[in-house]
Amino acid sequence: TVKHLADYAPPDYEVETVRLVFALDPRETVVTAILSLRRREGAADDAPLVLDGEKLSLREVAIDGRNLGADQYEVSDSTLVIASVPAAFSLTTVVAIDPQANTALSGLYLSSGMFCTQCEAQGFRRITYYPDRPDVLSRFSVRIEAPKSVPVLLSNGNPGASGDLPGGRHFAEWDDPHPKPAYLFALVGGDLASLDDRFVTMSGREVTLRIFVHEKDLGRCAYALDALKRAMRWDEEVFGRQYDLDLFMIVAVDHFNFGAMENKGLNIFNAACVLASPETATDMDYETIEAIVAHEYFHNWSGNRVTCRDWFQLCLKEGFTVFRDQEFSADQRDRAVQRIKDVRRLWARQFPEDAGPLAHPVRPSSYVAIDNFYTATVYDKGAELVRMMKALVGAEAFRAGTDRYFEKNDGTAATVEDFVGAIEAASGRDLSRFMAWYAEAGTPVLRVEESREASGNGVTHTLTLTAEAGNRPVPVRLALIDEDGEAASERLVEVEGHANVVTEGVTPGAVASVLRGFSAPVRVERNLSVDERLKLARADTDPFSRWQAGYALAVDAALSLGGLGDLESPELVADELGAAIAKSVENEAFAPAFRAEVLRLPSLTDLARASRVIDPEKLQLGREVLRSRVLSYCRPVLESLHDGLASDEPYDPGALQAGRRALRNEALRLLLADADEAPARRALRQAEEADNMTDEAAATAALAHAPVAEREAALARFYDRWKDDALVLNKWFAWQAAYTGPGALEEVRALTEHPAFDKGNPNKVRALIGVFAMENLPTFHAADGSGYDFFFDFVSELDGRNPQVASRLLTATESWRRLEPLRRDLIEKKLRSLAERKGLSDNLYETAQRLVS
Ligand code: ARG
Ligand code: ZN
Repeated sequence: TVKHLADYAPPDYEVETVRLVFALDPRETVVTAILSLRRREGAADDAPLVLDGEKLSLREVAIDGRNLGADQYEVSDSTLVIASVPAAFSLTTVVAIDPQANTALSGLYLSSGMFCTQCEAQGFRRITYYPDRPDVLSRFSVRIEAPKSVPVLLSNGNPGASGDLPGGRHFAEWDDPHPKPAYLFALVGGDLASLDDRFVTMSGREVTLRIFVHEKDLGRCAYALDALKRAMRWDEEVFGRQYDLDLFMIVAVDHFNFGAMENKGLNIFNAACVLASPETATDMDYETIEAIVAHEYFHNWSGNRVTCRDWFQLCLKEGFTVFRDQEFSADQRDRAVQRIKDVRRLWARQFPEDAGPLAHPVRPSSYVAIDNFYTATVYDKGAELVRMMKALVGAEAFRAGTDRYFEKNDGTAATVEDFVGAIEAASGRDLSRFMAWYAEAGTPVLRVEESREASGNGVTHTLTLTAEAGNRPVPVRLALIDEDGEAASERLVEVEGHANVVTEGVTPGAVASVLRGFSAPVRVERNLSVDERLKLARADTDPFSRWQAGYALAVDAALSLGGLGDLESPELVADELGAAIAKSVENEAFAPAFRAEVLRLPSLTDLARASRVIDPEKLQLGREVLRSRVLSYCRPVLESLHDGLASDEPYDPGALQAGRRALRNEALRLLLADADEAPARRALRQAEEADNMTDEAAATAALAHAPVAEREAALARFYDRWKDDALVLNKWFAWQAAYTGPGALEEVRALTEHPAFDKGNPNKVRALIGVFAMENLPTFHAADGSGYDFFFDFVSELDGRNPQVASRLLTATESWRRLEPLRRDLIEKKLRSLAERKGLSDNLYETAQRLVS
């Protein structure tokens, strides 16, 4: 059934308090829930009580202590309905659940022997009968009973009593003073070790910080803890937000459907997003951990203290929280490089979504399975909307606006209107037309035209938005650039439909740098000569735009070299680009991390996104020709970078060292574009000698992706070294999943049978099948359809086990309509037959339907 934003109605019954008692058992956990319910003022006197519940076996229902007879309530697959209830009463239910059978990893499940929960968005209804909607806020108190073989028992809030029970059992109680919706509930039970620290808030509250992991992983928690403390301080300084309990816990679990979850006081993380040591995690892993730890922590205010009225408002917490974590990372690292990475991610994931059949507004207006809307659009475009509002009202008014938002909506379930309204009130600016950004799907196009006065040196830039996007303000940063830098300094133009920007007194050769810092999530259309583009790539004073000018030219050159673009003489362009890249990469005025980005040539997926037609062979050809031409200009520079940046300093994950390693490893990667012995030996040596995973993985990956003799040796060596480390082996799976050489599909197929593969573990599935479908264009889209056969079989089978992950995997096909005709026909048949299959989960059904609609 489809849910619509327009149908929102407040709940009939409010839950004032909820008491939960868990008797943990892998096959039969008994959950007793005591809810104190009160009919909402304004609800009908005869409103039935409707509670959500799935996969629960109901044992008892009682109202005010009196058991109900079977004729006094009704149970379906998804609800418990009691037709007639008093205005205020206490409801007790007793249900049994089977955590071990829970392969969907939603609700209470077992991961490597440990009990854990995931309730967002609708997992709580798989634990007990409850009004499972975010606008029902309640105070939770929890008692957990378990055998002593499950020594650590955790839930939200503050610890209460704990002690022994007869029969080798024990219990622990928890009390959360902050009212919360059920999706923020969490419970953990397991044999866990912890690393502790403490943090004193701005106003003097002493907070215990505690990260729980399997004993063997205790040595890999320090960085997450450090990131957490930095995030807590940053949120105080930048947003004025302080922590509000005496204890903050993070638990790492091996089986998790996504990155992490912000449960009140008890964040639960995918182990891959917490655990790091220099030997096992790359700089990129460290960066991800820092960002996710911060993201989940920031939710304590943007999500928990102020939550969402309904799931249509998901971007209210996610877009804003992504914005906050991006800003945090920018402050902790290099702001320009952070912006490049964030925009690259937006282009790679959100732009294709917005341009295909899965397009939806940042605030969707309908859904079947809400899990399908945890998307790049809601998260990443959602963050861009917040960033644009900040640009429109200015930093000071923005901060006053967020203060006001937190203050006015604290303890409530809010809407996007509440957020935008607070910024309006604080800034005095009308943002009503800005709301179109939330309501309309698709990426607006901004057309840029230039005209120069025949006499004099004035220049006019005409900025025009496509008609559909003409109804909303678009902040565009613009400056003029000549060889020495800014010929006219930057200004912020607010385009609504159309704007003329006149600049006087400019040197004849100056080129406009438009949409600097990617000031709005739009596509720019513009005719610039190759020379003008190269000038921006050399001299733009905005580092993002300087990077972008070169990157976009590289994309166009690769497409044209593969026969898919319209650049004239792309060989010449590639040569000029090669020379320009060699210069930038050597330029010590730029940070190493920035130079690494300059050297990171477009991937196949980057090219596919930019191409009108997706023809994997042509894309691969274009990419290879571009790489080897660029390499021919850079070889000596790259060799000397690779030699010169080698370091024997002890490993530090901070941005400075990481930037140098990134540059050095990009150099190595490009050197391997020569399927030649010398670079391969260089890489093998690096893999063998590295004392950290960043260098080891970079070298092994470069070899694993190249059809060189050393490939097998490098992969075998890596496997041998890390075969007992599930997290590290994910990298090994992912490299092979992306391999495009001969026999690639057979290799991937064989890996699904490998003893280290586990289709019950989402990290493994993403590493192998996700990477295969997202990145291995030539093999996934093999012209004989073999890649599709393999993938669709896998997805259909997985749906029976884990619908959320199956549905997410299928989105890898979202750009299918742009495939060249032969492949498009093949994949369309697959998609249509999947969409018509009986017995699909709601999640997969909705995604398949939208893909073919
Ligand atoms: N709120 C979590 C986060 O962004 C993610 C929850 C994802 N839930 C889902 N059903 N996909 O931090
Ligand atoms: Zn989030």
